[in-house]
Amino acid sequence: MALGLNLLVASLPALIPITAFWFYAVTQPPVSTRYWDSQYDYIVVGAGSAGCVVASRLSEDPKIKVLLLEAGGSESLVSDIPQTPVMMQGTPLDWQYETVPQENACYGLEGRRSKWPRGKVLGGSSAINYMMYVRGNRHDFDEWAAGGAYGWSYREVLPYFIRAEDNQDPEIAYNGFHGRGGPLTVQRSKMVSPLAHTFVEAGKLFGYPNIDVNGRNQFGFTIPQATIRRGGRCSSAKAYLLGDARYRANLHVVTFAFVIRVLFNELKEAVGVVFDRLGERHQVFATREVILSAGSIGSPQLLMLSGVGPRSELNRHGIPVISDLPVGRNLQDHIYPLGLNFIADDSLRPKGVTWTYIQSRVHTLPNILKYVSFAKGPIASIGALEGLGFIRTSFANRTFQDWPDFQIHFLSGCISSDDGYVFRRNIGITEFQWQKTFFPFVQKECFTLLPVMLKPKSIGYIKLRSANPYHHPIINPRYFTHPEDLEKMADAMEISFRIGNSLPFRQKYNSQPSGLVVPGCELYPLYSRNYMKCLAQIFTVTIYHPVGTCKMGSPSDPTTVVDHELRVKGVRRLRVVDGSVMPRITSGNTNAPIIMIGEKASDLIRGFYVTPRMGFSNIINLYTNNIGIG
Ligand SMILES: Cc1cc2nc3c(=O)[nH]c(=O)nc-3n(C[C@H](O)[C@H](O)[C@H](O)COP(=O)(O)OP(=O)(O)OC[C@H]3O[C@@H](n4cnc5c(N)ncnc54)[C@H](O)[C@@H]3O)c2cc1C
Ligand SMILES: *[C@@H]1O[C@H](CO)[C@@H](O)[C@H](O)[C@H]1NC(C)=O
Repeated sequence: MALGLNLLVASLPALIPITAFWFYAVTQPPVSTRYWDSQYDYIVVGAGSAGCVVASRLSEDPKIKVLLLEAGGSESLVSDIPQTPVMMQGTPLDWQYETVPQENACYGLEGRRSKWPRGKVLGGSSAINYMMYVRGNRHDFDEWAAGGAYGWSYREVLPYFIRAEDNQDPEIAYNGFHGRGGPLTVQRSKMVSPLAHTFVEAGKLFGYPNIDVNGRNQFGFTIPQATIRRGGRCSSAKAYLLGDARYRANLHVVTFAFVIRVLFNELKEAVGVVFDRLGERHQVFATREVILSAGSIGSPQLLMLSGVGPRSELNRHGIPVISDLPVGRNLQDHIYPLGLNFIADDSLRPKGVTWTYIQSRVHTLPNILKYVSFAKGPIASIGALEGLGFIRTSFANRTFQDWPDFQIHFLSGCISSDDGYVFRRNIGITEFQWQKTFFPFVQKECFTLLPVMLKPKSIGYIKLRSANPYHHPIINPRYFTHPEDLEKMADAMEISFRIGNSLPFRQKYNSQPSGLVVPGCELYPLYSRNYMKCLAQIFTVTIYHPVGTCKMGSPSDPTTVVDHELRVKGVRRLRVVDGSVMPRITSGNTNAPIIMIGEKASDLIRGFYVTPRMGFSNIINLYTNNIGIG
């Protein structure tokens, strides 16, 4: 007790900078309101990565009234701490979705289901994510444009990535591909383990240079940049709502507002929405447009509940059809396998130096004080995901040599690093597999390579479970149902294994592959190609990037739901603006491209046009788009 008190007193001076910051955070007026009007120019549904951008940009014009409705509440101080993103899962900040049992994947997970966390909070999934800032490959966007998403080529979207960004790392910020002064703060974490630097070094040995993977070329290894500000999370809510927008009288943000339906008039124009809040049902009207930014699960579900979706399915649930569209199809996600673990020799670790993030060593009072006072130390690490590398397998696109097909996430830790408290539960690893595969490495200096498949050929779907908006939809990503996916995953695992087992790691840390045979894969020689495939099917884990369920493209294309200006086909005054509009998943983490989608959409809605050469200009502001006749 006395010791604790002494420590507290001794650390008081150090607490001042951050308490000032927290004091500021707590004493600011909340961005949300408890009252609202009956009518707005625009209603935005969902305050996630994209929704915050759209609401903020549209309300820059004080004459335009905007309502932003969010099912969750405000962010907490805990969700601000970079080290803890995984702890938000399974809490009220998470929608806690699950997939249906997978035929060809997830054998080592409970019920063969993959857990799908999604943020239910201001900031949406950007408030619970791992904060990696990755834009994707230029060919991703050129492919969108070539497929009918006119105006979304790399040249045309780059200005929006730049406009969103406030890049704080001088070695990257001025290389011609980045922005300063935008709302979204981007920088490297102040805490990086020496292992991550070794990962980058090992990459060089394999021919991958250390580069800015969001710059001219994506091929290389790097210490990632992340959406962090002053050592804390910079969600899209913090970036776009908690700045100037907080004081705008023409922007109302209402939390705990669960939207259950879009209202249409007889002309099939979206005129408003119905939402539930604290046990009461409300209607609110939009004179210009309703914009759905409820995410890749929420937006298709809301569309279908409102009569926009595949006719046969709507009929099954007794929902009158307003527009028959392939809503919920084209579901794509990024997965990686667990099991490429290496154990470092703890006896070589200098005292007090963090190699891997063993939770019981990280969550100590000195580390907490260090984080709270200086935003430094192990707790400032972005969830131990400390290295990124983009590689090619033999399945990568041959036409474009600069288009990697796998992304290695380097984790300075293992599933066992938290003694089984959090990761295991949130991934849903079975008790049996936990005991056999992970428990033996508890408290060991253990690191992992996670090869993420960027361009899966297995495509899934989302369907309504019922017409009740409170029932989670049926989610089936159909992992590994296309045979090519398992082959290329095995390729990428072999490459990742060689990198993790390479000389730089062995020399510095005397590290070894964990060498434990995973139950279910005993038939195959350890680390053989078949063993890799077996691992991938047992521990198939999502990296939380579902997209594509309201596909954008040419209106005449029967697979699309929205046109290239994100207007829902067959109805008026309704757009979708979030990850669900991606025609094809991007080559990297999805937050940055979805924020870009929000930026570009807000210009499309306002009738601003950007030309890649001239930069931004308000050339024309006809209201054609706004009243749905454009
Ligand atoms: C655990 C995790 C880790 C991740 N790590 C990274 C990473 O490191 N880097 C990266 O780039 N990406 C990462 N991602 C992915 C990225 O965060 C998401 O792709 C992105 O945030 C999705 O943006 P969105 O706007 O499409 O949807 P969301 O951000 O999910 O926003 C949807 C919003 O709509 C609200 N909503 C839904 N339905 C309704 C309704 N009916 N009524 C009212 N409101 C509703 C939701 O509550 C939510 O706030 C991660 C995601 C997760 C879950
Ligand atoms: C490579 O990508 C281009 C553009 O999307 C595509 O047209 C081509 O078919 C792809 N080639 C291979 C071998 O996948």
